[in-house]
Amino acid sequence: MPGAVRATITGFGSAAPERVMTNHDLEKILDTSDEWIAKRTGIKERRIVSDGETTSMLATRAAKNALASAKIQADELDLIVCGTVSPDMPFPASACFVQDAIGAKNIPAFDLSAACSGFVYGLTTASQFVETGKYEKVLVIGADCLSRVADFTDRGSCILFGDGAGAVVLEPTSEPDKGVVHTVMGADGSGWDFIHVPGGGTRHPTTHETVDEKLHYVKMRGRDVYKFAVDKMQWLLGDCMEKCGLGVDDVDMVIPHQVNIRIIESATSKYNFPMDKVYVNIDRYGNTSAASIPLAMDEAVKKGAVGPGSTVIIVAFGAGLTWAGATIKL
Ligand SMILES: CC(C)(COP(=O)(O)OP(=O)(O)OC[C@H]1O[C@@H](n2cnc3c(N)ncnc32)[C@H](O)[C@@H]1OP(=O)(O)O)[C@@H](O)C(=O)NCCC(=O)NCCS
Repeated sequence: MPGAVRATITGFGSAAPERVMTNHDLEKILDTSDEWIAKRTGIKERRIVSDGETTSMLATRAAKNALASAKIQADELDLIVCGTVSPDMPFPASACFVQDAIGAKNIPAFDLSAACSGFVYGLTTASQFVETGKYEKVLVIGADCLSRVADFTDRGSCILFGDGAGAVVLEPTSEPDKGVVHTVMGADGSGWDFIHVPGGGTRHPTTHETVDEKLHYVKMRGRDVYKFAVDKMQWLLGDCMEKCGLGVDDVDMVIPHQVNIRIIESATSKYNFPMDKVYVNIDRYGNTSAASIPLAMDEAVKKGAVGPGSTVIIVAFGAGLTWAGATIKL
């Protein structure tokens, strides 16, 4: 539609903890090996928060970087949306901690819970406010510290996760070939138990017993998640190309949720995407949940792998079950 306003990304930022946990570090505490983890997942190392470091601290660093990249001040923002499932506290929202830390005053700030799809859900939600003209400058964050809820005695799940944060600034554009041109979201609550943290909510409020039973840790049905992930990533890629009339040659980069290299390769090979059009940094960060896509996007921009004029598809899925994708013209 000529003249229609879209949301476009004007700034990128990310942050990761200093502390590196390699597969060899995990070998010392678990019955596992660097070879098994690297071969089955593509992960070599991940970043893990230190004592006292929180999700909102990483989110704040990512947010400041995104604001600097967009060349705007915190007091110019109209809204903050933060995708996370590992907030500093059950409430208030981590977005409110970020708002305070960056010095934004009175603007709305809320968290959005869609696990690994959290950033794409957040981008989609925030884009609506920009497209309708309600808000002009919106900060969208994806931030998680799943190491805080990972069971480091469960080799089937804890090896996957790393901590991090990524953020973008959205602003309106009327340029016809620019911005967030397509978004898609979905959920299937019947798959809630594929990946979940059972304790600490109203179903199993925290007691000594829930802690003894380790209900405050991530429980995952790895193989079921794997099948769901391949199917959904394929479906999302197809949707993001088809709805925009794009073929593989028209797409400059797919930036998928950094979930598992085998899942990423299976899904993208369905459309014969060459791997140089698929951005991967899982080897260094693991699965950082909602942070994974914005962290990878920021890295891809900084490396010059994508830039102004690039057509990028982002695809994510996670606990819920949830899934979401977007086609973005940078
Ligand atoms: C978790 C995952 C890596 C496991 O890989 P897999 O190839 O499916 O492995 P399986 O679970 O079938 O286990 C195969 C064997 O390896 C063992 N194993 C599991 N984790 C291991 C580890 N870290 N190190 C060594 N061996 C391990 C299992 O015990 C099993 O042994 P057995 O055959 O003697 O019973 C894989 O299923 C996966 O990535 N799933 C998706 C999970 C995910 O991405 N979750 C987040 C979604 S947002």
